[in-house]
Amino acid sequence: MLIGIIGAMEQEIKLLAESMLINETKTIAMREYYIGKLFGKDVVLVFAKCGKVAAGSTVTTLIETFNVDIVLFTGVAGGADKNLKIGDIVVADKLVQHDMDASPLPGFSKFEIPLLGVGTFVAPSHMVSLGKKSAEFYVSSCMNTDVSQSILKEFNICTPTIVTGTVASGDQFVADSSKVLSLTREIENLKCIEMEGAAVAQVCYEHGIDYIIFRVISDKADEHANINFPKFIEEAASHFTRGIVEHFVSEI
Ligand code: ADE
Repeated sequence: MLIGIIGAMEQEIKLLAESMLINETKTIAMREYYIGKLFGKDVVLVFAKCGKVAAGSTVTTLIETFNVDIVLFTGVAGGADKNLKIGDIVVADKLVQHDMDASPLPGFSKFEIPLLGVGTFVAPSHMVSLGKKSAEFYVSSCMNTDVSQSILKEFNICTPTIVTGTVASGDQFVADSSKVLSLTREIENLKCIEMEGAAVAQVCYEHGIDYIIFRVISDKADEHANINFPKFIEEAASHFTRGIVEHFVSEI
């Protein structure tokens, strides 16, 4: 089995890249694809850059050029559910493109991808349940040794909560609590907001490929998000992504 692993930003997958035995690097369409072994499995690792188009292009290359069997996307997100704190983990069971709206045209509902007839992508349930187990295992057994106490203290992280729920993606960095509120009213069981997951879900859905999207909460998508997000991705994100991905990749 060949696993395609994607993060949007280099910082989010830095420790995964360092954990990998890289046999070959291929540059395609301005991205570097690292081919090799990670935690005993064959993988292609890449950072996609931000946004839905970047994610869609990268996943397409993973599927069409590298023939990956499954796609794993990991990184950070802005929390939308008010119960979530920085450091909590979301495993997407549904994904929506929150900036898609053809509803002024007859016959289309808000968020529906016109002519595809899908508005909400439902992630494969066996991937979601293994994803949740992997995150739970990481948090309960090794997060405290993997992430330094000073980082945990700095972000006020005690024991992260792990949830499954809806992830909303759009080509916007959201730093506006009123926008978060309106999205939570419109999107059922919305947990977090980011910029790539639902694009990955669409491409995988169109190709019939299994996928999993993990997100660690880096900020609350509110007026402090522009401060919290860069701090979290520099200092903490890649510890979490490596830990969760290690357990997922080992078990799949
Ligand atoms: N990724 C992490 N935080 C985010 C935010 N507030 N908006 C969009 N994407 C994000």
